[in-house]
Amino acid sequence: MSLRLGDKAPDFTQDSTMGRIHFRGWQAESWAVLFSHPADFTPVCTTELGMLARLKPEFDKRNVKVIGLSVDPLDAHKRWAGDIAETQGASLNFPLLADEDRRVAQLYDMIHPQADSTATVRSVFIIDPKATIRLILTYPAATGRNFEELLRVIDSLQLTDYEKVATPANWKSGEDVVILPSIPNEEADKLFPKGYRELKPYLRMTPQPSR
Ligand code: BEZ
Repeated sequence: MSLRLGDKAPDFTQDSTMGRIHFRGWQAESWAVLFSHPADFTPVCTTELGMLARLKPEFDKRNVKVIGLSVDPLDAHKRWAGDIAETQGASLNFPLLADEDRRVAQLYDMIHPQADSTATVRSVFIIDPKATIRLILTYPAATGRNFEELLRVIDSLQLTDYEKVATPANWKSGEDVVILPSIPNEEADKLFPKGYRELKPYLRMTPQPSR
């Protein structure tokens, strides 16, 4: 059965460009982004991995570890890493799983046979420190992902885990948020000292609480 939000992220041990990785031990107390790409030595994937390498400090700031995967062998990953460094202005600074036996791809349902019978699609899983799956995205092979969007979702998850708010459409960190409809106004008055605008009883906007 395919994975759903709220499920425990399946654990695994697999080879990577940074040695053999036991996923749960590697993730430890951090958040994790586990993503697959279709194949090494392909143009979109090269730009994606370069972008992630450049954005790594932003993931670090949020206590998020990043790990990639394709079903290519380790020696291909290592040779391709040279191309990424040469063309993308950043070297691979996170592990890339060499999932030749497809163990992880199958656990996470990353091969969609009607799209491609052998290569992984562009899957993304955001996993919290309790190993719970918090976001699942699937992109087609020809469409490179927007990794700023992953940072935005992580900001939202990390905020809404601690504050009684949710984040509206296109929200970015620092912008106004919405108060959960389950919070009555009397409680909202105490919880949100900066005040709020009530557009509808269920739609109350407030400045982003500082954490
Ligand atoms: C790419 O990464 O460029 C790519 C991979 C598979 C199909 C199409 C594009």
